[in-house]
Amino acid sequence: MKRLLTLLSISAAFAAPAAFGADGAALYQQHCAACHGAQREGAVGPSLADATWDKVQPHKAELVKFISNGLPDAGMPAWKGALDAGKIGAIADYLLTPAKAASAAAAPGPASYPELAGFKLPVGFSIAVYSDKVPSARSMVVTPSGMVFVGSRAAGKVYALVSSKHDNVADKVITIAEGLNSPIGVTYLNGTLYVAEIGRVIRFDDIEHTYDKSPKYTVLKVSLPDDKWHGEKIIKAGPDGKLYIPVGAPCNVCNREDTLHSKIHRMNPDGSGREEFARGIRNTVGFAWHPLTHQLWFTDNGRDELGDNLPSDKLNLAPKAGMHFGFPYCAGGVVPDPEFAAGRKCEEFAEPAAKLGPHVASLGLAFNTGNQFPAQYKNQLFIAEHGSWNRSQKIGYRVALITLSGDKVATDTVFIDGFIQNGQVIGRPVDIAFLADGSMLVSDDQAGRIYRVTYSAPAKK
Ligand code: HEC
Repeated sequence: MKRLLTLLSISAAFAAPAAFGADGAALYQQHCAACHGAQREGAVGPSLADATWDKVQPHKAELVKFISNGLPDAGMPAWKGALDAGKIGAIADYLLTPAKAASAAAAPGPASYPELAGFKLPVGFSIAVYSDKVPSARSMVVTPSGMVFVGSRAAGKVYALVSSKHDNVADKVITIAEGLNSPIGVTYLNGTLYVAEIGRVIRFDDIEHTYDKSPKYTVLKVSLPDDKWHGEKIIKAGPDGKLYIPVGAPCNVCNREDTLHSKIHRMNPDGSGREEFARGIRNTVGFAWHPLTHQLWFTDNGRDELGDNLPSDKLNLAPKAGMHFGFPYCAGGVVPDPEFAAGRKCEEFAEPAAKLGPHVASLGLAFNTGNQFPAQYKNQLFIAEHGSWNRSQKIGYRVALITLSGDKVATDTVFIDGFIQNGQVIGRPVDIAFLADGSMLVSDDQAGRIYRVTYSAPAKK
């Protein structure tokens, strides 16, 4: 986070036209951007992009007074102790300049991302930034018409990304809903966008026609636990037209065989008919159905506190309903759990399709069904590894490529490396999706970005 803020403040300081003083813009990045967005587009706090505010008139004296006193009860700090009058005045001047000028000036050109050069991909592949205005970006869904919807965690928002010039850069990022409870999960089915929050699922009908008109949502009638621990939920529409949703274990390790926890559920699109699909799952943050077999593949993150190298995170295959994947009795497919294994054997449970490595935090995954990448990548699986948080040496922080032979994993290799550069974490991949042209999107919740990966055959020598 520190590095991200530093990066943002550097680029903003350079971008700020001298007319309103680099100071105001830089001070804004330093003190305000975390809550109001690097481009003033809003995050935890409201958008300050145009001078039409709810709580204060767009006049300098009133703005200075407002910033000085804040609204501490509503989460807007009082700045008079922390910043002197000169600095508050400079920030006010900056906020009173049209946001268009400010954001156009700050709009990043290709040269703004020197770290892109540090990513390593196979020959012929390139990576670019599709959008850098997607704070805490989590799951993504691409609709048949090519719109991209993105959920978020701390930002509490759901975004619509639009490439209005059709130039493969999302120049518009529209917040379609905010103030939600970790709305990480998004999926699309028959014109409707479904969003999973910690304790509920909401739906936005006809979203492709309403996304820019403050769309209304309705709450699905399904009751789901709202535990904070592993309580965030992805959601995916399956090939059977049902919505699939996990409920994680509300703990590091615990036995929740008798509750909705540590299972994957499925239900009708209106929330009715919820049923258990699979159990024995600690916490899954990624589902994908094989494009030809329609079988469900999903990631599952292993328990903590068994040391740096145990257990492995898993890639699982659930070809049918009713399978048990071993939690809490068996960790990583092979390690009897020291607290819960009594009387149980790892062999009783579905074997992992692949062991992905300890603490890599494998999250979103997607099959490549498009035709842009070379044929050897067709119908193969890509997994975002968010990276370890408590391992003494960091692991993960990459996108893995899993190749399949039938329903067996043939190879597990690195596809994108470089989310750690020179010992610095520059991003954490969360989810993978493909655009209609066959290019790949990767969301990154640390940098608040969506990357786009393309392929073009290297020129023959
Ligand atoms: C910790 C988060 C946080 C930080 C940091 C923060 N704000 Fe806020 N700010 C908020 C919240 C939340 C609100 C909304 C309060 C409400 O609506 O009741 C807000 C409201 C405002 C508003 C009124 C917007 C409106 O539409 O009425 C302005 C102006 C503002 N902040 C300016 C600033 C400036 C300038 C800074 C930096 C010096 C700053 N804020 C830093 C959280 C923050």
